[in-house]
Amino acid sequence: MRQFIEKLPKAELHIHIEGSLEPELMFEIGARNGIELPYASVEALRQAYEFSDLQSFLDIYYQGARVLLHEQDFYDLTWAYLNRAKAQNILHTEIFFDPQTHTDRGVPMERVITGIHRALKDAERQLGISSRLILCFLRHLSADEAMETLEQALPFRDWITAVGLDSSEVGHPPEKFARVFDRARKEGFLTVAHAGEEGPPEYIWQALKLLGAKRIDHGVRCMEDPILVETLRSAQIPLTVCPLSNVKLRVFASMADHSLKRLLEAGLCVTVNSDDPAYFGGYLSENYLATQQALDLTYEQIGRLARNGFVASFLNQDQKQQLLKKLETYLSEAVPK
Ligand code: HPA
Ligand code: ZN
Repeated sequence: MRQFIEKLPKAELHIHIEGSLEPELMFEIGARNGIELPYASVEALRQAYEFSDLQSFLDIYYQGARVLLHEQDFYDLTWAYLNRAKAQNILHTEIFFDPQTHTDRGVPMERVITGIHRALKDAERQLGISSRLILCFLRHLSADEAMETLEQALPFRDWITAVGLDSSEVGHPPEKFARVFDRARKEGFLTVAHAGEEGPPEYIWQALKLLGAKRIDHGVRCMEDPILVETLRSAQIPLTVCPLSNVKLRVFASMADHSLKRLLEAGLCVTVNSDDPAYFGGYLSENYLATQQALDLTYEQIGRLARNGFVASFLNQDQKQQLLKKLETYLSEAVPK
């Protein structure tokens, strides 16, 4: 099963590029930029990765991002992730970035986005990985600041497919950003939102109705509202579920308690993703494997999760069909009869 999952052609739809910053690279970039980290070593930093909830993680995650200053830093960060993606046979990836984490420290939007974009283009040519970029607004900041961020991003609109919403969920409902998302949609962006990770099902309803979200990031708390589950099922609104993240941030007490299998069996379009792999103990294959083992997922269910990843992506129909064909060829050869 491990080999089956590692070689499985996969799509990833929920990865914060700042959350792929491994301690080694954090120290390396910090050293060259003269930014001191409050940890003596890579090991000491890794040991600090014990979280009690979303906020306890975010505090460390924003601190880590402080080493990123130059275009090359954003390139190196993204390139390192893409090489890991290649090793795990990720054929397509849709990457979140948090511009406000950088612009609030005086790093210009252009530097952030150009570094990431350049790595994505190189990966397309050199690694054969296609990608889309999603700009996330930090929901703990104001709607006015989100609007400003959107305006700063407009010169780079051709490089950005969608906007999303992340950071501290509870107390910052989607409705706070309804106007910003209206504007984003008028400007031609697709929309997604983190909802129902720690927040209630009501936030998922808001993301759908007020933000026009095409996918729900996490969304695992939808199970508390049967009408919502039926709505997500009948419209096949994808959920980008991140199993290791959910256990690390104590959304579920253990992987055996995770709702992924129940969501799948309820007919929802569930996908598997890594969220912040450098912090949560695994990249995409490790997320598939940990879930498969804890929930005893069948080959058929793993195949369905992988299929959903391509179906739920923002690729066009032709691109989806091409990648789905690769997946089906693999499944027809690799699934034990
Ligand atoms: N939730 C909210 N904000 C985030 C996350 C997450 O899982 N990862 C990075 N920013
Ligand atoms: Zn996330």
